[in-house]
Amino acid sequence: MAQKISIFDTTLRDGEQSPGCSMNLDEKLRMAHQLESLGVDAIEAGFPIASEGDYAAVRAVARECREATVAALCRTSAQDVLRAAAALEGAAHPRIHTFVATSDLHLEYKLKKTRAEVLEMTRLAVLLARDYAEEVEFSAEDATRSDVDYLCAVLAVAVEAGARIINVPDTVGYSMPTEFSKLVRIVRERVVGDRNVQISVHCHNDLGLAVANSLAAVDAGARQVECTINGIGERAGNASLEEIVMAMKVRSDQLPYETSIDTHQIYPTSQLLSTIIGCSVQPNKAIVGRNAFAHEAGIHQHGMMSNPLCYEIMTPESVGVPNNKLVLGKHSGRHALALRYEELGYTLAPDEVSAAYGRFSELADRKKRIYDQDLIALLSAVSRASQQPLCEGGAEVVQWRHASSYT
Ligand code: KIV
Ligand code: ZN
Repeated sequence: MAQKISIFDTTLRDGEQSPGCSMNLDEKLRMAHQLESLGVDAIEAGFPIASEGDYAAVRAVARECREATVAALCRTSAQDVLRAAAALEGAAHPRIHTFVATSDLHLEYKLKKTRAEVLEMTRLAVLLARDYAEEVEFSAEDATRSDVDYLCAVLAVAVEAGARIINVPDTVGYSMPTEFSKLVRIVRERVVGDRNVQISVHCHNDLGLAVANSLAAVDAGARQVECTINGIGERAGNASLEEIVMAMKVRSDQLPYETSIDTHQIYPTSQLLSTIIGCSVQPNKAIVGRNAFAHEAGIHQHGMMSNPLCYEIMTPESVGVPNNKLVLGKHSGRHALALRYEELGYTLAPDEVSAAYGRFSELADRKKRIYDQDLIALLSAVSRASQQPLCEGGAEVVQWRHASSYT
């Protein structure tokens, strides 16, 4: 039977930390509801000690999301742990996620602590966190550049103190897949053994290997993967949720694992995030990019018409990409427009369709091809004309009724 891989989404924490991707409380809540519709196992909602806003956002997500586990990040100081615990009050499934760096580089230059001190910080933080939450995750930041024996010693202390999940992050995206899977195997053998402790991985994409490393780790025994929508995150980003999930689905012959993700919600979730943070996905991005299912070359088009399997390894529908056979242009009517919005996850009232249609017609006169991103941007323009922007600081976004908020 296929083994279950838990999907830990950190779009609202690591993703949000990347330049231009910050979200306010309402935006985080909307994303969190959509992440629940997508079926993620855990939502890391923020870093409560970082700011009042982050604290309030984690608190709101913790209270509203009743299905998924809600995690709050903290360093190892008591103040940090207590702030995370307070933000999680009222959560149906709370998880305190505490972390400290374990590489000598970070110990010497960032923490200015000895190895013995970091071991003790780990023990105390996990013990304290366990007073407030059954489920505690411990992360060894910069694990892939840490001395392996020391890394295992720190992780073992965390497990002894009560951590149920131990995370092995490739914080700077430095590892290679074979090397990373070897590390995960060592942690499994030396630290976990037959204990009921889950190994998690958290890979950054500095060398473009975050997804490959995550999958290699799963093969070596990791059972939780930390990832983000559209792969957003610090610097070059985190492992992309959509790529990990679809790799496991499309190549189940090689990767016999299952997740609880409803893949049809992948594209609407990706689009919602782009709209909220005002940052579109690169056109050739796997799974959710504008060109991921586009076929322009004649020979490809011919193959596609004969049998889509010639050039498509998954259907656009399977990841929730609307059926683009209906090309929207200046001759399209209101119904087609409303239908496309529906497919994109936005339910518009008749007056909203009319407002959007007016703008759509103007655009269609100027532009040959209207993309989904244009339609979503149109919603923002319509809102600007009729009302005040809804968010301060971040991207202007419209509070249209996104279908997923009702499911
Ligand atoms: O990249 C990293 O190491 C992190 C930890 C806090 C898990 O984001
Ligand atoms: Zn990270």
